[in-house]
Amino acid sequence: MSAEDRPDVVVLGGGPGGYTAAFRAADMGLRTVLVERHSRLGGVCLNVGCIPSKALLHAAKLITDAEEGPSLGIGFGTPTVDLDALRASTTAVVERLTGGLAGLAKQRKVEVVRGEARFTGPNAMTVATADGDREVTFANCIVAAGSEPVHLPFLPDDPRIMDSTGALALEDVPKRLLVIGGGIIGLEMATVYDALGSRVRVVELLDQLIPGCDPDLVKPLHTRVAKRYEGIHLGAKVTRVQARKDGLRVTMEGADGESTVTADRILVAVGRRANGGGLGLEAAGVTVEERGVIPVDDRQRTNVGHVFAIGDVTGNPMLAHRATHQGKVAAEVIAGHAAAFDPRSIPSVAYTDPEVAWTGLTETEAKAKGIEYELAVVPWAASGRALTMGRTEGRTKLLVEPGTRRILGAGIVGIGAGDLIAEAVHAIEMGSDAEDVSLSILPHPTLSETVAFAAEAAEGTITDMYLGRRRRA
Ligand code: FAD
Ligand code: NAI
Repeated sequence: MSAEDRPDVVVLGGGPGGYTAAFRAADMGLRTVLVERHSRLGGVCLNVGCIPSKALLHAAKLITDAEEGPSLGIGFGTPTVDLDALRASTTAVVERLTGGLAGLAKQRKVEVVRGEARFTGPNAMTVATADGDREVTFANCIVAAGSEPVHLPFLPDDPRIMDSTGALALEDVPKRLLVIGGGIIGLEMATVYDALGSRVRVVELLDQLIPGCDPDLVKPLHTRVAKRYEGIHLGAKVTRVQARKDGLRVTMEGADGESTVTADRILVAVGRRANGGGLGLEAAGVTVEERGVIPVDDRQRTNVGHVFAIGDVTGNPMLAHRATHQGKVAAEVIAGHAAAFDPRSIPSVAYTDPEVAWTGLTETEAKAKGIEYELAVVPWAASGRALTMGRTEGRTKLLVEPGTRRILGAGIVGIGAGDLIAEAVHAIEMGSDAEDVSLSILPHPTLSETVAFAAEAAEGTITDMYLGRRRRA
């Protein structure tokens, strides 16, 4: 390609960050090429991440909801699971979404080049396509190469040891599943396999599940899964795994010393590593940090002005909704807009049962940084809707800035917390104060009311709970 006919933008990677950037760039009239090594667009999120995991979690919820039927006088009998049908329904969802993306690319005249890309210079890359190497040049490039699972080097090479992709493939329902890593992936997949009938054991290095999340939000989840799972080992690490015919013999070390258990399968979910290494970015002069992370500024620019990076490849938090927003910013900056990635909060959600969601400032962070905050908490026992569902273990809390009364952060644990947190995200992004939220009339009876109740609690105007004399306004 000569300098005249080279595309305005080449996007490397067709995940949620990459396809969003490419589509936005094309919509603004930029000539755009999208390079993806896999046959399907959608990246980790659509193919082996967010979407298939949520499809399986939906199935898991059907099973566990049915288990709760007898408490309401309703019985369904023992559920049977047809693994082939479950797999097929999940695949159908993924294919529908990824097929939709191919159509959207076509409508926008985004050229999709299939193959593994490697930079050869500041304005060029080689793509190893099925028809041989193809040189692709560009005026601007957006690197959206994503991330991959971290591996534990001491584990034996054995098909019974899986990463998240293997777990989503649902080859079978192991009698005994051991999950290494009590983070979001480990716990979501534990939720699925537990519902399907596996006896689950979780080994977490740190002293709580979902480290980084406020302990009071994790507690209701921990309490529920502790009753269902075979074991939860906190502050423990797996030191050795021996592959035997009759199972995987796992040695772990914890506060109580060394112990050994046997599992039929192991899921390794100990984090993800950015894919910035191995792209030949040195040829473009782009800095790549240790662990494959590409540093960027708030315009998503790398140290090289016309090369941008977005999504997981730019480090934590590795979330699809962060990637898509960064993708739009990068495309808009290239198109000459005054865009910047400057969110007040990015929500995190564990789609476990109960779900755990938080956004903005957490108590853990506030304490660590010495940031002052007022706390308003509503236990879901005060929610009529939670009572009707028999799930009052939830809790909604807001962190309010003293003086300005602005909402700095929010945390929710309970059924549907992932959807409920959206209300708090809007409030934080709009700079709302607690009174704004407390005066919003929300539909009754809903769980969404608990966010407004928490704001009322902050204002001292709540009537659905008694706060005590001192805190009433
Ligand atoms: P990716 O989705 O990783 O896409 C990168 C793309 O680049 C890939 O398609 C890859 O093939 C391509 N690529 C890489 N290198 C090259 C190359 N050299 N040449 C050509 N192509 C290349 N996030 C959420 O927000 N919510 C969830 O519920 C959620 N659930 C998840 C569940 C699981 C099991 C996992 C593993 C992840 C989950 N995530 C979730 C995280 C989410 O999937 C990622 O944050 C998101 O996919 C990142 O998007 P991305 O565009 O940055 O990268
Ligand atoms: P994670 O970083 O969330 O959790 C990994 C856990 O493993 C941590 O708690 C860590 O302390 C623990 N750990 C690390 N080494 C260990 C060891 N040797 N033994 C025992 N425990 C060990 O990473 P995870 O769960 O793999 O997910 C990766 C990322 O994918 C998430 O951080 C998130 O960005 C994204 N994701 C998001 C989801 C969502 O939004 N619902 C769902 C799944 C993934």
